[in-house]
Amino acid sequence: MLNNDTIKLRVEELLRQMTVEEKVAQMMQIPFNITGKEEALRWAKMGAGSFLHVLGDDAREIQQAAMSSRLGIPAIFGIDAIHGHGLKHEATIFPSQLSAACSWNPEVVEEMGRVTAREVASDGLHWTFSPVLCLGRDTRWGRVNETFGEDPYLAGELGAAIIHGYQGDSLDAPDSILACAKHYIGYGEAMGARDAMDTQMTYRKMKEVFLPPFRRAVEAGCASFMTAYGSIDGHPFTADPKTLKDILRGELGFDGFVVTDWNNCESLMIQQHVAATIEEASVQAAEAGNDMIMSTLPFYEAALSAVRTGQMDEAVLDDAVRHILTIKFRMNLFEKPEKVGVPGCVGCEEHLDAARRAARSSITLLKNEGMLPLKGVKKVAVIGKNADDLNSQYGDWTYFTHPNANEPRPARRPYVTVKEGFEALCAERGIACVYHFGCEVKPTAADANGPALVDPVAEAIRQQSLSRLRQEDDIPGAVEAARDADAIILVVGDMIDQYGEFKDRADLSLSGRQMELYRALRALSIPMTVVLVASKPLCIPEIAATADAVICAFNGGMFGGQAVAEAAFGCFNPSGRLPISFPQHSGQLPVYYNTLPGWHGGRYMDQPATPVYAFGEGMGFAPFTYANLTFDPATLLATVDVTNAGDVAGTEVVQVYMHDVVASVIRPVKQLIAFTRVDIAPGETKTVTFQLEKADFALVNRDEQLVVEPGEFELMIGHSSKDSDLLKTVFIL
Ligand code: NOJ
Repeated sequence: MLNNDTIKLRVEELLRQMTVEEKVAQMMQIPFNITGKEEALRWAKMGAGSFLHVLGDDAREIQQAAMSSRLGIPAIFGIDAIHGHGLKHEATIFPSQLSAACSWNPEVVEEMGRVTAREVASDGLHWTFSPVLCLGRDTRWGRVNETFGEDPYLAGELGAAIIHGYQGDSLDAPDSILACAKHYIGYGEAMGARDAMDTQMTYRKMKEVFLPPFRRAVEAGCASFMTAYGSIDGHPFTADPKTLKDILRGELGFDGFVVTDWNNCESLMIQQHVAATIEEASVQAAEAGNDMIMSTLPFYEAALSAVRTGQMDEAVLDDAVRHILTIKFRMNLFEKPEKVGVPGCVGCEEHLDAARRAARSSITLLKNEGMLPLKGVKKVAVIGKNADDLNSQYGDWTYFTHPNANEPRPARRPYVTVKEGFEALCAERGIACVYHFGCEVKPTAADANGPALVDPVAEAIRQQSLSRLRQEDDIPGAVEAARDADAIILVVGDMIDQYGEFKDRADLSLSGRQMELYRALRALSIPMTVVLVASKPLCIPEIAATADAVICAFNGGMFGGQAVAEAAFGCFNPSGRLPISFPQHSGQLPVYYNTLPGWHGGRYMDQPATPVYAFGEGMGFAPFTYANLTFDPATLLATVDVTNAGDVAGTEVVQVYMHDVVASVIRPVKQLIAFTRVDIAPGETKTVTFQLEKADFALVNRDEQLVVEPGEFELMIGHSSKDSDLLKTVFIL
């Protein structure tokens, strides 16, 4: 890798040679899926800095054109490879980010990033628009599946892990790609969880709740950031120098480059109306600190005209180009413009194994009244559309579930659905297995409220779903199929038409006739496990209260179905924990554990104060008990004894929370500050140690400064965020 001084010199040398036109071109990110190849090649010859949504040979051809431009500056190619190189047919598909977060396992998440990087790089590409570090606090939002859940600390730890997976030890390695921390910032906190609306936050709240995972991304060396669509207190993030310059570059010390999200620049004019012309919008976006402009083709002429007429200083372009070129040099692209990855690695056995491991780690057992692991059964009935629906199992951003896919084709084996997983394991054990789909997850593809989605991308998704084969609901048929079984596995959830960009839901109860199906099967009084194959927590209070067992699988990727069946048969002991709370009711949202205290109980009179399942919850086949919490405020060393009180080996996720008892601002009732995974043998007790730091107890005060205020604190350690699961000690810091 070139050293920093050499890079600086080479960047300045190149910058000196660049015309204004070449500088603006360098800031352009061209959407290949919109322009097509001829237009993309034209942009490459003009020196465009980057392209998105182009794969393999097309990317290589465009790169050749870029290299033949006057200065021969290599372009970088970006793709949404957010749970595997999902937009490519042959790629390994991992669990969604939310499913992977259930592992609470940075190693698993890092491996997911590493495998993705190898596959993306093998396609000649350089950059993934991942990870999403937005928080999923109001789960009506359509993109909760893309997050690491509701907690800033967990999102930061897993974010850092996947960034390291993508970027490896050095950006110039043939199989390292750029990570992109997005969407900076607060995108998930849009009003009413309606995609891309104004956020409900102040800068103080933003810094305290939403900034920490992004800070962690900078510490992890994340090379790029993406600006969010939304706005804070009337300022679109795209035009907000305070977040992009003062905080990101100033306070956090970010030294990579910033790309806008899709057409954010023009949106300043056509959506958010803070600019009257595209010139004004372009000046605002560039001056605020966006270095690269995604998919706003008019930016090119507009920025040039702004410089010519004196509306924008050329130095603004210099800064942006400097940031972009620095990363290109750090990637050594001037010597090796193409990433090569690891030849033959796409979808290879080693990568598929990593996807299997990730799927198993994400399985979260939420309830088990003695039904699991299945024992002594002669016939299993697997019921439910999502037990055999790959769209639901894979989730968003894969080559056949997302319209940005260049080559939508039927899914590539070897995936395993829940139905297939049970069929295989039952066959091995001489157990009969029947399947019935029961009912549709969503009764009709048509949007009940008319064609509200005017975006062409969203419309394409609708068309795709309209043409999808649908079946007639047949609940009596499902009941008949299950009648003589001695275990029912009912898979419920949502489907791809119900989540993703533009697709927020007001009602998170099970759609279609899924509850009717559940009740009809429950009436058989046969032991029943309900499996959730869904993009996010849905409202299932009745199921939680009356099913014998509940497994959360979210979008488990290629082997999500296999992992569910293996967990049910006890082939492994599940150790997933929820990174997000399950609401009782949509009207209870937002529901998250680290809420600020109120003094009237903080609940609706017709709903409990608690979620159905809390952040951090999850069980295995072995119960763990906690004792002897100690904490030394002088050394900040905490210890606790954790015992495996069961008869099978298990992995416990030991969680550490703190509460600031009296502070200058209202503090959350508790806040996760550390966690670790411990393997414990049956009957064994392990002493688990945490070396905490003063900064773990910090808050953002009214002057927006991150400070630790001395005084009384509580430290809580235990199995989940629920009070009943935590040991507590009080101390003075
Ligand atoms: C818009 C999405 O918000 C963002 O997450 C994605 O990376 C870009 N489009 C590029 O596809």
